[in-house]
Amino acid sequence: MEKLRIMGGSRLEGSVGISGAKNAALPILFATLLSTEKSTIRNVPALADIRTTLKVLEALGVRTSFDENSHTILADGTLIESIEAPYDLVRTMRASVLTLGPLLARKGEAKVSLPGGCAIGARPVDFHLSALEALGASFSIENGYIHGTAKQGLRGGIMKLPFPSVGATENALMAAALAEGTSIIENAAREPEIIDLSEALRTMGAEIEGAGDSSIAIRGKASLRGMNHTVAPDRVEAATFLCAGLITGGSVETKGIAPGFLGSALDTLEKMGARIERMPHSVRASFSGSLEPVSLETAPFPGFPTDMQAQFMALAVRANGQSTIKESIFENRFMHVPELCRLGAKIRVQGSVAVVDGPCALTGATVMATDLRASASLILAGLAAKGETNVRRIYHLDRGYERIEEKLQSLGANIQRDFDK
Ligand code: UD1
Repeated sequence: MEKLRIMGGSRLEGSVGISGAKNAALPILFATLLSTEKSTIRNVPALADIRTTLKVLEALGVRTSFDENSHTILADGTLIESIEAPYDLVRTMRASVLTLGPLLARKGEAKVSLPGGCAIGARPVDFHLSALEALGASFSIENGYIHGTAKQGLRGGIMKLPFPSVGATENALMAAALAEGTSIIENAAREPEIIDLSEALRTMGAEIEGAGDSSIAIRGKASLRGMNHTVAPDRVEAATFLCAGLITGGSVETKGIAPGFLGSALDTLEKMGARIERMPHSVRASFSGSLEPVSLETAPFPGFPTDMQAQFMALAVRANGQSTIKESIFENRFMHVPELCRLGAKIRVQGSVAVVDGPCALTGATVMATDLRASASLILAGLAAKGETNVRRIYHLDRGYERIEEKLQSLGANIQRDFDK
């Protein structure tokens, strides 16, 4: 099995290009199910989750090709032959539930295995189902599958989300784009990935107002054109590299991402004492001599993103004092804590709060990645640790970071992909 071997202690300096956002690309790829025409999607990161998405689309009848060098995907949804997203694919990637909205809208029927994915909480899909029910769909659970039908087609309606769920907002947007009449999503998620999906849908002819706000209005169309879209940059990847620079006492510029994507993350880094330079299409974070402790709580956008919590916790381990980190989105997202402690961190978990006693001197060890963003926090800690750290189970990492070791090497890190003996 592959692992990453890190010799800690090198200061990271330089600039690194940011890939397209995984979490924007996934819904955008599923949206190609809505059109009988050919779609072109650029700036798609070459990641395991993207390849899984293409397999799901192929299983449904979409013809796809992915040129990983140019990061371009062509998808032809002329023929949708199946309405079932198979268990073997869905269990590895929860985002497959995003086939529900487009399939119901296009075919009047959808079957999706109940989702798997990262083990970071219960993660039900009830908000997705109630939103689609408001458009006329009905659901049953059969043999581990969600079976949805809308035999009369979907009709516009008001979808009031109990919580601004990112995935439920995406399913709702895609379904409403091809439903008859006007739909409203209330308490919609406001993440940049929602705006990117809306822009992709607009290139297909969808009429959407309010993406990025809590209330989104969609005027449904009888048919949609092929998509022609360039995926927005990955704010989680960018934040991870900015933290990598700071945790090593260095200075890293992330290129190809506007500071607006990173609002609360940059504010938090500034509170921690980092020097932040905001340029039109890039951001630099530089160590200014010390890191201050922080008190942060994850929240829906524009709050602090749960996908950056683990990486900021690694940084807090090096801060001069006690930090508190509250996880308010997922109920089981502290699995990196015992592994960080194996590297020498002093962290106590009390319910949904982690108390980090910094600064801790870290020493290299063998650690186990437990989920995607947890893997990133272990790499950050390894970069700051004395001696050698081996991060195992990096298949989690490959789901969400493109060539992370090469990008870190280009900044001066001593990190290699290796095999366990
Ligand atoms: C997306 C992101 C994930 C990120 C998360 C929160 C993708 C592919 N994944 O996940 O990286 O961490 O947003 O920013 O974009 N919930 C329910 N019922 C539902 C749906 C959600 O109870 O039907 C709960 C979840 O269990 C969780 C919270 O709502 O506690 C937020 O989940 P949601 O915003 O839906 O996250 P995802 O779309 O799964």
